[in-house]
Amino acid sequence: MTDWTHGYNIEQGYTYGVYRELAPDWMDVCAMLAGFAVPSEGAQGQLRYLELGCGQGFGLALIASAYPQIEFVGVDFSPEHIAHARGLAHAAGLDNVRFVEADFLDLARDWPPELGRFDYAVLHGIYSWVPPELRHAIVGCLGHALVSGGLAYVSYNSMPGWAAMQPFQHIAARLQTKSALPGAQVLNQAVSLFQRLKTGKAALFDALPGLGSRIDALQELSPAYLVQEYLHDNWHPLWFSEVAGEMRGAKLDFVASATLPENLLPAMLAEPMRTTVGEIADPMAQQDVIDCAINQSFRRDLLARGRRRRFAAAPGAADLIVEALARPAGDTVAIKTSFGEFTLKEQIYGPVFDALQDGPRRIAELLARDDHANVLQGLILLAHGGHVAILKEGVRDFAPAQRFNRACAGAVLTGAPYSYVAAPAIGSALALRDVDLMLIGLRDEGVARDALVPRLLESLDRLGRRLLRDGRPVEGDEAQRLATELVDDVIANRLPAWQRLGVVS
Ligand SMILES: C[S@@+](CC[C@H](N)C(=O)[O-])C[C@H]1O[C@@H](n2cnc3c(N)ncnc32)[C@H](O)[C@@H]1O
Repeated sequence: MTDWTHGYNIEQGYTYGVYRELAPDWMDVCAMLAGFAVPSEGAQGQLRYLELGCGQGFGLALIASAYPQIEFVGVDFSPEHIAHARGLAHAAGLDNVRFVEADFLDLARDWPPELGRFDYAVLHGIYSWVPPELRHAIVGCLGHALVSGGLAYVSYNSMPGWAAMQPFQHIAARLQTKSALPGAQVLNQAVSLFQRLKTGKAALFDALPGLGSRIDALQELSPAYLVQEYLHDNWHPLWFSEVAGEMRGAKLDFVASATLPENLLPAMLAEPMRTTVGEIADPMAQQDVIDCAINQSFRRDLLARGRRRRFAAAPGAADLIVEALARPAGDTVAIKTSFGEFTLKEQIYGPVFDALQDGPRRIAELLARDDHANVLQGLILLAHGGHVAILKEGVRDFAPAQRFNRACAGAVLTGAPYSYVAAPAIGSALALRDVDLMLIGLRDEGVARDALVPRLLESLDRLGRRLLRDGRPVEGDEAQRLATELVDDVIANRLPAWQRLGVVS
């Protein structure tokens, strides 16, 4: 056991994820929709952004490439993660992001002056997986890092949604401490043990009716994620009010949820729940009760150091820009949220997409057309579902994001497990298939249209991989036909959208 980990499981390097909620524009949009000012208002000089526990740095480097006007710093105590992050930033030629190997405990004790202060400070997937003294250190870091008016983002496994998984986590972590096996194998053992308990009708499954399906769902998730999720010495799902109370130590106050539709609560709860929740006067207790109403399991809280309400006539949510991404095909579209699925009718989204046909529009222009509350609620749900993007600023310099995408696509051709590209026009990321990234890489290498099919098949072959049709690997003529279909679809349908979003030139 190494001693620098404080019980944090570093057995497997972390995944190469990107979280759209960590993009500066996304955070600003959530704060503005909730009626609060954002860091750029009143900022002195260049905006600065810090990620505490940046993991492999893939997400931070991607966001940095889409926001060349902001300076980014990523901190993590894992040398493996920092080395990967630095290599990626270097390969992409990014000059606005750097990565620092450091421990939150040391930083909280002695904040290095050269790190400076930040307008945004974020941490994703950490706060409920570390011991209380590390949570205290993280709050210390946020206190040192954030400027007045700065925004913090903290996500965590929350109560009461994780109550049902507590027995599984406890047993998995116990098995791990008594075993010399790698974490992924211990987790397999724990999953099969719980499946046998379920088959044997263990009383636990009657008391926690959601447990069985959650155990079944574990089989679909990646071993790297599962090890990070469950095999920590520390695993503490937290109540909103606990986190909000701890964040007061850094002078932070809750502003909004970065899970967009949750800002529509409690108004979107069905009666009588809406009235029951609405009657609770204490805002902290009210959030906790909302979380009971929806059985909340993961929160993404935005907090401000110095919360500033907007003045009534100051520019605000109405000035945000809406851009169409994917018009729903049918007469209705279903949007899944943490509090149920909502169906939007064509009467709501149709006029919005008609108005966006010739390009992005300000929310004010869309609201002028119809009933405000309905349109705004519709826009928030559509943005959550990925059908529109809501942005604070418009077009940016696309060149750094395209350099980043080129570096990633080239790396995927050599086997890198990346599955996102930067989409600078919307200040965010797009999730792509590996074949999409490979085709972007081949196009960047200057491979001619006619040669894309054989070169794609060759590239897959070099990596010992096959194209899949309905999950089944295909060979020979069938592979040739499938590769031709893929390439035709990418050139005709996907490439124009990628170009519009600034993914490729
Ligand atoms: C669950 S991962 C999340 C990574 C990244 N934020 C993401 O969501 O992809 C948590 C990260 O925090 C880092 N970490 C944990 N404890 C730390 C500490 N005491 N100091 C610095 N980094 C730490 C780990 O190395 C890991 O990369």
